[in-house]
Amino acid sequence: MDRTRLHHLLARESAEAERRNPRSKAAYDRAEHLFGRVPMTWMNKTAGAFPRYLDSARGARVTDVDGHEYIDFCLGDTGAMAGHSPAVVADAVGRRYAELGGATAMLPTEDAEWVGAELTRRFGLARWSFSLTATDANRWAIRLARAVTGRPKILVNSYCYHGSVDESLIVVGPDGRGTAREGNVGAPCDVTLTSRVAEFNDLDRLERELAHGDVAAVLMEPALTNIGIVLPEAGYLDGVRELTRRYGTLLINDETHTFSAGPGGCTAAWDLEPDLLTIGKAIGGGIPAGAYGLSAELADRLLGRADLDLVDMGGVGGTLAGNALSVAATRATLEHVLTDDAFAGMAKLSERFEAGVRAGIEAHGLPWSVARLGARTEYRFTDPAPRNGTESAAAADAELEDFLHLYLANRGILLTPFHNMALMCPDTTEADVDTHTEVFAAALSELTG
Ligand SMILES: Cc1ncc(COP(=O)(O)O)c(C=O)c1O
Repeated sequence: MDRTRLHHLLARESAEAERRNPRSKAAYDRAEHLFGRVPMTWMNKTAGAFPRYLDSARGARVTDVDGHEYIDFCLGDTGAMAGHSPAVVADAVGRRYAELGGATAMLPTEDAEWVGAELTRRFGLARWSFSLTATDANRWAIRLARAVTGRPKILVNSYCYHGSVDESLIVVGPDGRGTAREGNVGAPCDVTLTSRVAEFNDLDRLERELAHGDVAAVLMEPALTNIGIVLPEAGYLDGVRELTRRYGTLLINDETHTFSAGPGGCTAAWDLEPDLLTIGKAIGGGIPAGAYGLSAELADRLLGRADLDLVDMGGVGGTLAGNALSVAATRATLEHVLTDDAFAGMAKLSERFEAGVRAGIEAHGLPWSVARLGARTEYRFTDPAPRNGTESAAAADAELEDFLHLYLANRGILLTPFHNMALMCPDTTEADVDTHTEVFAAALSELTG
């Protein structure tokens, strides 16, 4: 990569973003009362000097306050996998909130059992409970795993992301030992007191860690998605299941992103048998919702424990979790939008997207790789594809990524601000994908001269 050329192109695209988006820039400059000038500090993770401000979004399209329309492959980093504000979810939310009322009445609604049954049909776990975020689903699943096993530690894969869960902010350090993830804010204690870590696709390390006998649960994505997509090698997931069973450790599949693999995520697509499963983001169609599922046997063991306070201050649950609005949105999303048929169409589009990216990379002879997980495609600046999180992290190139994101955004295409992920929703079209293929190829032509 010619860095001088890259720097020049990056500066040109940054200037163009500023020229095209005066209203967004002014709004950002004015935002004196927000921590980091944004509603949430991660919104500063954007290519260029300021984020584009949202005006409206519908289906696979986003419009910013400067009047530019974008083909949205970011889709809220999965939260809008159903497309933005699908009409059927908008109706269900409107009916629940405006007509019936009672979004936070602290009473169950009949929608909840429908959603529980549907999640069982899709993912296989027999009992479900709700949260508002995937982070909380993970926190509560971890607590339940500790309670039921009596063990203190959680094992995760290096460079995983499971939300702001303290136990998960650990990586394999350069010396091979577990160490805090760089930049971890305000950790309550040394993370190695609560956690163990292995590399994805490394069963030997996993076994060594589990052999200590102190791991309550392995919390993992069946494919890593938050450091680029890293797919499991043949036999790895079977090995994880076999080892966790052998060492009395529970297995929690976090399907929040890997849901892209199909209507029942990787768990259904690859016949996995986790003890617990967590999910969030997409299932609410844009309304905050999350859930965790557990086997009937595990649920019975937990409910039979008189020493565990599962109904009040025991540390599992939140006042708004399972509220009528979130549950109504989840029902509408699963029943009518993220259906089995919709996933089939999204996967086909994603295949087309992958083919377009691959063609561009090959045409320009770049040493990059592409990976796909159902409706989700991602490229990394390394070839062959990384086998684990550490390899994938080493392939990061912030400037190159910023250039590609800005180049695409200035031409009406959004990728997720975190790496080069593109997600399809039921409203994405072949023409949208082909537009990306063209613009991506043009970006590569400029990069390689
Ligand atoms: C796999 C996974 N789990 C959990 C989360 C946390 O989701 P939320 O921030 O909605 O709590 C994320 C967020 O990206 C995720 O990718």
